[in-house]
Amino acid sequence: MTLLPVVGLDRLTDDAVRVVFEVPAEARGGYRYLPGQHVTVRLELDGVEARRAYSLCAAPYGDAGRATLSIAVKELGPGGFGQIASSKLAVGDRVDVLPPAGRFVLQEGDEHVGIVAGSGVTPVLAMAEVALARGDRFTLIYGNRTASSVMFLEELADLKDRYAERLMVLHVLSREPREAPLLTGRVDAERLPGLLDAVSPGPDAHYYLCGPMAMVDGAKAVLAERGVQRGHVHFELFHAEDAPPPAAYAETAKVLAEGDVDVTVTLGGRRTQLAMSQDDDSVLAAVLKARPDTPYSCTGGVCGTCRAKIVRGEVAMAHDYALEPEEKAEGFVLACQSRPLTPAVELDFDA
Ligand code: FES
Repeated sequence: MTLLPVVGLDRLTDDAVRVVFEVPAEARGGYRYLPGQHVTVRLELDGVEARRAYSLCAAPYGDAGRATLSIAVKELGPGGFGQIASSKLAVGDRVDVLPPAGRFVLQEGDEHVGIVAGSGVTPVLAMAEVALARGDRFTLIYGNRTASSVMFLEELADLKDRYAERLMVLHVLSREPREAPLLTGRVDAERLPGLLDAVSPGPDAHYYLCGPMAMVDGAKAVLAERGVQRGHVHFELFHAEDAPPPAAYAETAKVLAEGDVDVTVTLGGRRTQLAMSQDDDSVLAAVLKARPDTPYSCTGGVCGTCRAKIVRGEVAMAHDYALEPEEKAEGFVLACQSRPLTPAVELDFDA
């Protein structure tokens, strides 16, 4: 467990605060990150361990100066880390923060377009800072409900001052009329083509989509229609909306009803063998009992932290919002969504 001290706390909007942690010199190497990655905050809520993933919202620290991690935390309801951060947390408190992870990161290339809604701006802001500093172009299509709910206005204005020619920001508001009808409404599949026409990205631009599932799915469809290569479309979801699991998933209950499944995992270079019973909701739940060091965060099939490669046997996933088709073809699965289809399975978390 690494407890990082809080060294900064400031309000971003009525319901969001920025929390800045300091990384001590001895942990610096392990907390390096790429723009777009997230950290997981581990805390106890009502006596139960809870994990929450937060994107890092500033450019990574360098070799000189202070090493800090900044996250933006939204208050989503009573009892969560959002509420703790906005009402109880104080500078000097120490919080259990797991090292940065995630594959939603800034790509090589000289043109980038962020299509985001609400706090989906967080990872994209870090990407924009780094991309602009290295001389790339960055366009941000940024949807919010009202002007007062826009996070990071000041930071975006600062970037605009520094990189006026290479940064373009389009604010789209769904509950407040803007002067241009194109900028009034949601960033959805209907409005996006007009917005993209207005900014006319080049053919090699990379796109970064971050927001609710409906927005991300709509944007993916629009970009595919416009002929954007799939490898240039990167996305991260806030959370998944409920969808029924595929038919194969029901088969896993039959396999587990026949007896415990033999699960072998490789993690951190060490192999562990364990038994998964029908009481275990997922392969991850079973593995955690024997290997509490197994990486995970959302447990909802969204963040990809629990990704592992199937080495032997077969599993079915309830949901998968994080893996690329090529990763699935290579045998990668999300352990938090997987249950076995064979009496023995082997997963490699180091792959
Ligand atoms: S823990 Fe987030 S996808 Fe499995």
